[in-house]
Amino acid sequence: MIEKSALQGKRILLGVTGSIAAYKAADLVRRLKDHGADVRVMMSHGGTQFITPLTMQTVSGHQVSLNFFDADEEAAMGHIKLARWAEWILIAPATADCLAKLAHGLADDLISTVCLASEAPLMVAPAMNNKMWSHQATQQNCQLLRQRGVEFIGPESGDQACGEQGEGRLIAVDNLLKHLLTKSQPGPLNGIKVVVTAGPTHEAIDPVRFIANRSSGKMGYALAQAAAEAGADVTLISGPVAIHPPSGVHCIQVESAQQMYEAVMQQISPSSVFIGCAAVADYRPAQAAQSKIKKTDKDDLSLQLQLNPDIITAVANAKQRPAMMVGFAAETDNLPYYAKQKLQQKRLDVIAANQVGEGLGFGQDNNALEIFWQNGHKSLTNAPKLEIARELITFITERYHAKDSI
Ligand code: C5P
Repeated sequence: MIEKSALQGKRILLGVTGSIAAYKAADLVRRLKDHGADVRVMMSHGGTQFITPLTMQTVSGHQVSLNFFDADEEAAMGHIKLARWAEWILIAPATADCLAKLAHGLADDLISTVCLASEAPLMVAPAMNNKMWSHQATQQNCQLLRQRGVEFIGPESGDQACGEQGEGRLIAVDNLLKHLLTKSQPGPLNGIKVVVTAGPTHEAIDPVRFIANRSSGKMGYALAQAAAEAGADVTLISGPVAIHPPSGVHCIQVESAQQMYEAVMQQISPSSVFIGCAAVADYRPAQAAQSKIKKTDKDDLSLQLQLNPDIITAVANAKQRPAMMVGFAAETDNLPYYAKQKLQQKRLDVIAANQVGEGLGFGQDNNALEIFWQNGHKSLTNAPKLEIARELITFITERYHAKDSI
């Protein structure tokens, strides 16, 4: 037994599905038990073809759950009890079939049913042939699952049991264990809700056209990832972007500023942190045409625009005002002046300003930020957005806890 492991006493429900990598599940259980975790195993019919329930029962020290139509099994630990018992659900290996079932909410076997019935965080470690992994169907299922906050651990690349090479191997048990250990260390934002807005908004002109901006969402997504790494319970409210939400983050996708406003107002709470990183359109067409606007012989066409809600200001003035409010400001000129003005006008605790223009800011992989707060200023020099995001989250965390102790 490994003393003082962060996994000590953790109730982990392990799902084993039908991949050749299922044989590694026995080693995984043994290693988790070495760390003092309490592991129960549920297996799909496919899983039992690769490793016997008796092996899994022996290593876990508990009866293995195989199906929910069996009266004896249900009497021992029924599927609802299992769903409630779990602190974490981990499916390793998770096949393409299992991911598809989870993505579409099927409940036609024990594992999919337990996942639907449980509120425990769900982690999946996929394992399958590389073509199956890269297939659009699988990738779209994974995207759906990620959006719902399911955490993906792996897969890794390399030699596959089928003789091919590529991405789809079950993550090595050592790496999986490391991931679980890191995850179980209490982070500085443990238990704190962080709501992040990201990306552009699309403001409909007619059914096929919209007004948008060049925001890629990369900075907001990096912030969501960094906050999740710090242990926060993250909700990412995103406009239309071409990137995937980070693992373990609950993502709500919206199109317009109005939809973003409504989603944000539902998510904020007084103890939360709000980070407004979205490039929200200030104006929308006053009336989106119901049918496609036709070209005419006239030389000009006017669009009447109407002001959108300023989301961050509405949040700052809400009854549910979060404990910490962080805004962004993209500026082409006179950055310190405008940033400090926005800090006051929008009643923010912190504003992170960046210079935009030729080759700077929007769509780039790097960023540099000037951070202002009442009576203070700090620069984060040019670095990849994830690094900058981690520094900003560390700074926000310090100020959040400092506020606590006032
Ligand atoms: O006023 P400006 O758009 O420069 O302010 C930027 C900050 O305000 C960002 O944090 C952005 O997310 C937020 N904002 C907002 N709703 C708007 C416009 C901006 O939340 N309609």
